[in-house]
Amino acid sequence: MRILLFSGKGGVGKTSLAAATGLQLSRLGYRTLVMSVDPAHSLADAFDLETELFHGKTGDPYPIDERLAIHEVNIQKEIKRHWREISSYVISVLRTTGINDVEAEELAILPGMEELSAMMYVNQFRREGRYDIIVLDCAPTAESMRFVSMPTTLEWYMKHIFPFQRGILKAVRPLANRVSPVELPTDSYFANIQDLFGKLDGIGELLEDPRVTSVRLVTNPERMVLRETQRAFVYFSLHGLTVDGVIVNRLLPGSVTDAYFQEWRASQAKIMDEIEAYFAPVAVKRVPLFTHEVLGRERLDELSRSLYGEQEDPAAVTRTEAPYSFNKVDGHYEVKLLLPFAVKGEVGLFKKGDELVVEVGTLRRHIGLPTSMAGLTPSRAKLDNRVLTVELREV
Ligand SMILES: Nc1ncnc2c1ncn2[C@@H]1O[C@H](COP(=O)(O)OP(=O)(O)OP(=O)(O)O)[C@@H](O)[C@H]1O
Ligand SMILES: [Mg+2]
Repeated sequence: MRILLFSGKGGVGKTSLAAATGLQLSRLGYRTLVMSVDPAHSLADAFDLETELFHGKTGDPYPIDERLAIHEVNIQKEIKRHWREISSYVISVLRTTGINDVEAEELAILPGMEELSAMMYVNQFRREGRYDIIVLDCAPTAESMRFVSMPTTLEWYMKHIFPFQRGILKAVRPLANRVSPVELPTDSYFANIQDLFGKLDGIGELLEDPRVTSVRLVTNPERMVLRETQRAFVYFSLHGLTVDGVIVNRLLPGSVTDAYFQEWRASQAKIMDEIEAYFAPVAVKRVPLFTHEVLGRERLDELSRSLYGEQEDPAAVTRTEAPYSFNKVDGHYEVKLLLPFAVKGEVGLFKKGDELVVEVGTLRRHIGLPTSMAGLTPSRAKLDNRVLTVELREV
């Protein structure tokens, strides 16, 4: 199975491109699912499905044609399916603060639930072998990052915090429930978390395998958008995901010669040069600004042809080099991490237990070290030619 993840700044064209990619893939014979992970879903709108008729139905995979389905993960439905125990605990806590029921229910949607639900589906569909390809239409960059960092964060929580919390609560619950205004979570709350965690088993490896998961960054030929695209590239690499394509959307076509757009044309051309140079060897695709919105099947087909022609296979694996690797060189060990666009001052590094912790700006990644390297200490680090190399030695 392949997972193609479309990410980028708000409004750049992620949903349109994910939908057009789904169409191309199904045309080539793949059983394809386009799944929206953005709580502000617009996937059904891109296909111009009549809202009245389709309302609520896209919360499960909804067939567009023989081989193509769309799925807008519906958080209310997911709470009923998976999160009841957790959210009812949060609701009961919120109620004790005087918040009314409806407000409490709204507030009990914790950040990350949508992303986790989407991941559970990806894992479930993979186990069932239901689709050849899942195209993920992500929310704007920040939320996408939450999506991809979820498996490692959760794993960390389950390893370091969960057993401790559960143990402590078991011991203090009888007493605490008598004196505290807030009821402590029951054991079934923890069982629920454990069960949910089990449903995500293996998803981390799937996301980090470049033969399975590829990130396609969508951008526009504008400086501010480009900056965010570069940040996204760093963050995805930090989380071990492989970016194998950049799509520049809304380029002014050559046929527009109006003097009004002259400055736009010049700046777009300049930024295109920068993009090609920055992202090489990652392939850069261009999509023109159309004369109309990309709405409905026909327009999506037009976009898909502009992107891929008749033949090109969007699922082809073009980059297999993982963003990080562990190596033994001249008697010492090394971790290499591909970090294009990162600058020296913003990279932090330390070791905690058997993990190497790398920080870039405000993002942090715990990298579990292989057993042979777990007892070593970082002795040197250098950021050179887009690669962070950390040397580990015995002390
Ligand atoms: N190349 C294009 N030419 C003309 N219109 C476009 C093009 N690409 C996208 N659009 C239009 O721009 C709008 C935003 O596109 P889209 O919804 O795909 O962006 P998005 O990145 O998914 O946005 P969001 O961050 O809100 O999810 C839509 O109305 C879409 O039809
Ligand atoms: Mg969108």
